[in-house]
Amino acid sequence: MGKHYAVFGHPVSHSLSPRIHAAFSRQTGVPLDYVAIDAAPEDFAAALARFANGGGDGANITLPHKQAAAALCSSLSERARRAGAVNTLVRAGEHWQGDNTDGIGLVRDLTERHGLDLRGRRTLLLGAGGAAHGVAPALLDAGIAELTIVNRSPEKADALADALGEPGRVHTRYWNDLVSLGPYDFIVNATSAGRDQLTLSFPRAIATSRTLAVDLSYGEAAIAFLAWARSAQCAQAIDGLGMLVEQAAESFALWHGRRPETDRIYAELSGQSVALHTAD
Ligand code: ATR
Repeated sequence: MGKHYAVFGHPVSHSLSPRIHAAFSRQTGVPLDYVAIDAAPEDFAAALARFANGGGDGANITLPHKQAAAALCSSLSERARRAGAVNTLVRAGEHWQGDNTDGIGLVRDLTERHGLDLRGRRTLLLGAGGAAHGVAPALLDAGIAELTIVNRSPEKADALADALGEPGRVHTRYWNDLVSLGPYDFIVNATSAGRDQLTLSFPRAIATSRTLAVDLSYGEAAIAFLAWARSAQCAQAIDGLGMLVEQAAESFALWHGRRPETDRIYAELSGQSVALHTAD
């Protein structure tokens, strides 16, 4: 009898996580079931409690519940605490332990799958919501040179910078000043604009032909930013599908004690990701 897992989100029906974890289960021979549970924000705590009472062993948490999930945990890993957000829950007796594998998933995708060196890169983070919180600590740990956070609402950029606690390396700037900030080696789009079918316009001056441009979304939600990155002649324009697969592998390792191989499922999903648009 396998263990029970779920991804909680709202909406969640497009989530690829059940398919990814089913593939990992087949590959490793670890029996499990993994379902998607849609819970509106006001129902999330009750839905998670029902899942636990029904024998739930672990869960992934996606939009918009990552911060709420952190508040429901009895203990948080260091990286979840720094992110202020949880994407992985592990059942321990009567309690949930919270962790966050988004940041390490992004770094692994970029460094191992794409063979990129992040060290020393002058980095621009666009957005300061849940996704930005999830990845920023891991980017700092990966050795980027400095991190500039720009957000439409400046107070959220300041709050993220304060939470990261590295005033010498982390700065905030105003969205309207993007044009005067000069070029970056690494630009991360962590806004949700693409998921709302909005196309943001960015000044060309933030990119050069050496710039690595990454969107944390994938499929349709990433198209506009990646098109901008290509038109600005960035060296690489990469979407968040690899990050999704890698964060899933890290969650799988937390639950089952072994990390699955990810190349096959990544190749399978990337062949059809253009039709998909849920950031997970
Ligand atoms: P997520 O979990 O995906 O990060 P979120 O926490 O709602 O979602 O954060 C969305 C991010 O996208 C925020 O940084 C938001 O900016 P604000 O804090 O100013 O709301 C940003 N965002 C969303 N739509 C945007 C738009 N049209 N222009 C600029 N930034 C936008």
